[in-house]
Amino acid sequence: MDNFQYLNGRLCAEEVPVSRIAEEFGTPTYIYSRDALERAYLDYAQALEGRDALVCYAVKANSNIGVLNVLARLGAGFDIVSLGELERVIKAGGDPAKVVFSGVAKREDEMRRALELGIHCFNVESEAELERLNKVASELDKVAAISLRVNPDVDAGTHPYISTGLKDNKFGVAIDDAVRIYRYAHSLSHLDVQGVDCHIGSQLTEIAPFLDALDRLLLLIDTLAEQGITIKHLDLGGGLGVCYTDEVPPSPQEYIGAVIDKLGDRPLKLIFEPGRSIAANAGILITKVEFLKCTEHKNFAIIDGAMNDLIRPALYSAYMEIIPVDIREEGEARCFDLVGPVCESSDFLGKDRQLNIEAGDLLAVCSAGAYGFGMSSNYNARNRAAEVMVDDNQVHLIRKRETIADQLRGEAILPG
Ligand code: LLP
Repeated sequence: MDNFQYLNGRLCAEEVPVSRIAEEFGTPTYIYSRDALERAYLDYAQALEGRDALVCYAVKANSNIGVLNVLARLGAGFDIVSLGELERVIKAGGDPAKVVFSGVAKREDEMRRALELGIHCFNVESEAELERLNKVASELDKVAAISLRVNPDVDAGTHPYISTGLKDNKFGVAIDDAVRIYRYAHSLSHLDVQGVDCHIGSQLTEIAPFLDALDRLLLLIDTLAEQGITIKHLDLGGGLGVCYTDEVPPSPQEYIGAVIDKLGDRPLKLIFEPGRSIAANAGILITKVEFLKCTEHKNFAIIDGAMNDLIRPALYSAYMEIIPVDIREEGEARCFDLVGPVCESSDFLGKDRQLNIEAGDLLAVCSAGAYGFGMSSNYNARNRAAEVMVDDNQVHLIRKRETIADQLRGEAILPG
């Protein structure tokens, strides 16, 4: 959160006081720092300098085209999981030749568009998908570059909802079946086997599970080579964690350094798909305290941001740091649950927080740049938040606050 710091008791986004942004754009609003995004991306790019490599930002973490454009200008690639994400990348000026396409249920129309644009690689997750892709590619008279997403069966040691590398989940193909499926892929006329792919989970705070997965993939690559199938690239997915409170995840340099050490002199191109570690700490969500409701048992701060704006606390019991935008010089901190207007008991952004606040104060939810706006919804018919990007002392609106008219567009009542 280096780009969000207090200056004389006032929280600033880069050089701009956050309270000024709230005044101009209202609340709740997501605020991103261009510099933070760029530095997080460059941490990866620089650790890979001199190597054949691609850093494919995972669009799902934050798919605003303003965010994608900042990364595209630096030469980033993109990891997509839908046609919508692909069109966003193109609209943002991303290079389709640097796009990898993940996801368990790619539709024919999605495959077709990706083939027409000439993406770098499809990360295929099943035999049925291989067959569908081969058919679509042959109809277009094209050859699709593919990797198989292999499930290495390692425990990422993270929340079960965001752990994806174990045997019993829907992603990828089991490592024990991989050789057979690679041989099948190799036999299909309109597929070109290029890589091996995996993604074992998200918010990992240790390097060990990544390296365990890597060991298994390298064995697989050697077995494939013995069978005449040459793997050119290795895609290790995303998953590097960030600091939300007191976690100390490895830096991209440490992680990539360890991967490169293990690779030795193998001539493999490396692909990474970081999402959270690029976007999370480049963003905050600001919200206003509407009322304080203090009862015998509990103090509630009722805020105008809700689970529809930021669902991570409700969905994963995720802890997100919440800090005042302007620090009060008088008064005392009390313990609050920070709850929103949505009619659900799980509608909270934080629990048991010591805060010195009054109605009307602004709060910032930290590390909200990834899986924040992108997972927001219209639940309770609430308009989705505005998004702005700060660039030094400039503030750019990169998504207008939704209106009721926006919400109603496309809906209809029955005739008569
Ligand atoms: N590649 C693939 C194939 C993925 O499924 C994901 C994330 C990524 C890359 C990026 O992973 P990252 O570097 O962001 O960890 N909504 C959850 C996180 C879900 C992650 C899903 N896949 C959360 O808010 O914690």
